[in-house]
Amino acid sequence: MSLYSRLLVLLLVLTVVRAAPCEITLTQLNTIINGTTCPLTSQSVDECRTAAQALPFVNKGFSDYNITTIGEKAALLSLMAFESGGFQFNINDGNPGQGTRNLMEFPFVYQYAISKPFLTNQTRAIVPNVNSKRSPRSCPPDSLSFASAMWFYTQSGAQGQGCLEMPGMVQGLQQQSESGWENYITNCVGTTVTQERKQIYLQTLSILNGN
Ligand SMILES: *[C@@H]1O[C@H](CO)[C@@H](O)[C@H](O)[C@H]1NC(C)=O
Ligand SMILES: *[C@@H]1O[C@H](CO)[C@@H](O)[C@H](O)[C@H]1NC(C)=O
Ligand SMILES: *[C@@H]1O[C@H](CO)[C@@H](O)[C@H](O)[C@H]1NC(C)=O
Repeated sequence: MSLYSRLLVLLLVLTVVRAAPCEITLTQLNTIINGTTCPLTSQSVDECRTAAQALPFVNKGFSDYNITTIGEKAALLSLMAFESGGFQFNINDGNPGQGTRNLMEFPFVYQYAISKPFLTNQTRAIVPNVNSKRSPRSCPPDSLSFASAMWFYTQSGAQGQGCLEMPGMVQGLQQQSESGWENYITNCVGTTVTQERKQIYLQTLSILNGN
């Protein structure tokens, strides 16, 4: 091969490697959740997960729901890190029906549970959260809990399209623009942009970009 073709091949290989969906590493996840060591509080004993415990579920969630870009991963992962206090919490005792790692609210947790009919026992584990008086400490299992933000973004709602068809949603997140993230927080998640949320998002984005 001539030097020129070798360079071309090298360039091609580099392009493919760059474009390949890469998994989040333990170091990255640990930094994003500020090195959570479990349990952080006596309240979170059953619910708390370290980065090492969470990592396989987080990566499987992204892979199962075909979320491959850094921009989308950063938005979803920072939401999970923020809502769960760095993976300390899985349910909100103060708000029956709210749970999983992005602390989705009723009826989304319920919708999520029944969208997985093959997981009958896991379904049962989540649904009692709707009535916390009956079963105050039932936690959604990790396999569901760490993929709920991915489900919500891609499959929730009456049409089962999540937020994917919302104007500018996918492009904005993929382009890693702050306005794209604000669109996600406001119109997809349905909450308010705050300085703390933004800071965690920007930090997560920077970490996933390898900075
Ligand atoms: C992910 O993509 C694959 C291949 O295109 C497809 O078969 C699968 O149904 C997709 N999964 C989801 C959850 O969209
Ligand atoms: C990590 O720590 C920083 C600095 O104290 C804080 O702003 C951020 O909210 C924390 N992140 C999480 C996920 O708790
Ligand atoms: C569901 O849970 C019950 C009771 O814990 C158990 O006996 C049963 O085998 C489980 N079913 C499945 C499909 O895992």
